[in-house]
Amino acid sequence: MQTGPVVNLIHVNVDGETVEVAAGATVVAALALRGIGGTRRSVTGEPRTAMCGMGICQECRVTIDGRPHVLACQTLCVDGQTIRTMAPLEPQ
Ligand code: FES
Repeated sequence: MQTGPVVNLIHVNVDGETVEVAAGATVVAALALRGIGGTRRSVTGEPRTAMCGMGICQECRVTIDGRPHVLACQTLCVDGQTIRTMAPLEPQ
């Protein structure tokens, strides 16, 4: 007997590791589940990460299925998607 809400789970690949997320989750949520605190590095090498969560700051840019500079906060995960941070950081 089902007692709670039904959650459809999908799988994406984040920097080489499979991450299970709920369908409808954003890419930035998948990054958080993976434990990645940064999305890219600045031109001076400083780690950058999602700030606004609403498509304004551009700090959450990642490469998705080979397409660079995609906003992780504005993109929904798709089953089988490959997500790459520009400079993988150690899990926080
Ligand atoms: S977090 Fe600011 S644009 Fe994505």
